Amino acid sequence: MAGKRAGREEKARAARQGPRLRIALLSRNARLYSTRRLVEAARARGHRTRVLDTLRCNMLLARDEPRLFYRGKEVQRPDVVIPRIGASITGYGLAVVNQLDMMGVPVLANAIPIARSRDKLRALQLLGRFGIDIPRTAMCRYRDEVPQAVEQVGGLPCIIKLLQGTQGVGVMIASTMGEVQGMLDTLWRLGQEILLQELIRESLGRDLRALVIGDRVVAAMRRTARTGEFRSNLHRGGEGQALELPAEYAEVAVKATRVIGLEVAGVDMLESRTGPKVMEVNSSPGFEGLEAATGLDIAGLYVEHAVELALAQRVAGPPSHLG
Ligand SMILES: Nc1ncnc2c1ncn2[C@@H]1O[C@H](COP(=O)(O)OP(=O)(O)OP(=O)(O)O)[C@@H](O)[C@H]1O
Ligand SMILES: [Mg+2]
Repeated sequence: MAGKRAGREEKARAARQGPRLRIALLSRNARLYSTRRLVEAARARGHRTRVLDTLRCNMLLARDEPRLFYRGKEVQRPDVVIPRIGASITGYGLAVVNQLDMMGVPVLANAIPIARSRDKLRALQLLGRFGIDIPRTAMCRYRDEVPQAVEQVGGLPCIIKLLQGTQGVGVMIASTMGEVQGMLDTLWRLGQEILLQELIRESLGRDLRALVIGDRVVAAMRRTARTGEFRSNLHRGGEGQALELPAEYAEVAVKATRVIGLEVAGVDMLESRTGPKVMEVNSSPGFEGLEAATGLDIAGLYVEHAVELALAQRVAGPPSHLG
């Protein structure tokens, strides 16, 4: 009797919410806000959900049998994987994502688009190539080439960026050629790759973050730097305020996400006199600030999109690169 009732309840639930899936999240830490919220949202929709610490995912490669082990036990194929790969473990993380891909498991973001978004220069090359406005950016490797590069990005003052920087660390303004030369010399000597970038003066101290899910911007905010700071990162004390994104900005954010090849992305834009300039496309966007600023259930939309993708792949079969 109880079994029958449970069966009926499950059918009613499935009719309301669609099938119950097994969702795996790749994340270093189940306690991180965005990871926690994704788990919560998935469970609220009736899905079985598991967080796998990416670095605890062991891979076995052999002819025709890509396999994954977690803390010594073989991982049963989930129905869909949501990768949340932090910058510090990109290499290993992408290997795990690829392994799941080879196992035929739908992943919300494949390794290639994650890698593209992680490499600031590569991302800007692609965005520029596909007609998206970006701050003019130059790269060179010798001291005597610097003056021309500075000229090419619109002169002084200009922005200097470490290719590997995150959370505002490694973004600087240089006001004189001596400063540019000095910073580059030091950074090159430390083995860093450096970008020179046009300073978008009219956007100094603020930027926009748009969260794209599928083919639309689901939430956006303007981040404003604290006094005396030009970097608007929330980690640097910036503040986020919800914003209804102008259509031009929303279109650019969605297009940038498509160019990089992602389904979900946090797109950072500067508001220039001539419209949006895309700085960056983040493949594992945290959304604590955005949920706080907008009050939206972003985790819910994120999970629903992953589920849609998994169900669509069930019908269409795995992407052709596996065929
Ligand atoms: N070209 C620019 N002109 C004006 N302001 C800029 C420019 N580039 C960056 N900024 C400011 O500096 C902040 C940090 O820059 P950026 O997002 O490129 O680096 P990051 O935050 O360290 O990298 P990540 O977003 O990968 O963590 C931006 O949010 C913006 O406020
Ligand atoms: Mg940033």
